[in-house]
Amino acid sequence: MDVVVRRATESDIPQVVGFTRDTFTWGDYVPRVINKWVKDGTAYVALINEEVIGVVNLVLLPTGVAWLEGIRVKATYRRRGVGTALTNYVLNLARVKGARYAMLMIAEWNNASHGLARKLGFKPILNVHGGVVKESPVHRETDRERMRKLIDGALNKTGGYFCSAVDHWVCTRADVNYVLSVTRDVYIGEKGLGFDRGFSVGQPTTPIRMEMLTTEYGDFEEYFGRFIVYELALY
Ligand SMILES: CC(C)(COP(=O)(O)OP(=O)(O)OC[C@H]1O[C@@H](n2cnc3c(N)ncnc32)[C@H](O)[C@@H]1OP(=O)(O)O)[C@@H](O)C(=O)NCCC(=O)NCCS
Repeated sequence: MDVVVRRATESDIPQVVGFTRDTFTWGDYVPRVINKWVKDGTAYVALINEEVIGVVNLVLLPTGVAWLEGIRVKATYRRRGVGTALTNYVLNLARVKGARYAMLMIAEWNNASHGLARKLGFKPILNVHGGVVKESPVHRETDRERMRKLIDGALNKTGGYFCSAVDHWVCTRADVNYVLSVTRDVYIGEKGLGFDRGFSVGQPTTPIRMEMLTTEYGDFEEYFGRFIVYELALY
């Protein structure tokens, strides 16, 4: 079975939407974002005999991390190496483009995906909870120097990783300067430290109801579950 992987084009979109509409019991977010991914030139597709049977999105972050998301293989073509071929293709591309690490996130229950990531050498590095969180009482910190100290403490707790749930869910290796560059406000709460990018180190901490990734479980209005963040060194 010859699998071809290449960058996705506009004409691939209907087929991608066709096989991703019902990926999970709740549906899938890929049909909503595939147009943007193709326009951004970040989506890649797998084909067999010119039929589109797989998709993945590759985002090269300014931190030297290649973020892999939205991998899907058409149900009738699973367990034949298509997911492996798609991932290897984008890992090579990321390497060529100078990325130092590849990272991705998998829902705790998703055994197929954990198997694929582990087989390719990815190692779990962080557990997060995802969902819509309620507002909580916080002290809002906007002083850049005090923010720097708080961010430093937060990165010590996460082992040097930072996530965001605004626009799309993403995690990356990060240093204090990177986090400062993407953060306007830090929220100090009783049980955690929150970031306006939709990330809390500790329990959910935010002055407004929002979608968040958090390192500890807490007061979620809508809980999407626990997710494992994986990493692979590319050098
Ligand atoms: C996850 C997914 C992309 C894997 O694609 P695939 O083409 O079936 O993967 P491969 O055939 O390359 O499998 C590679 C390895 O992954 C693991 N794996 C794949 N499917 C598995 C399953 N159902 N159960 C356990 N392990 C599995 C195995 O280790 C496998 O190697 P092996 O076949 O030699 O044992 C596919 O199952 C899928 O589209 N799932 C629905 C969408 C999804 O969950 N996406 C990931 C969200 S993070």
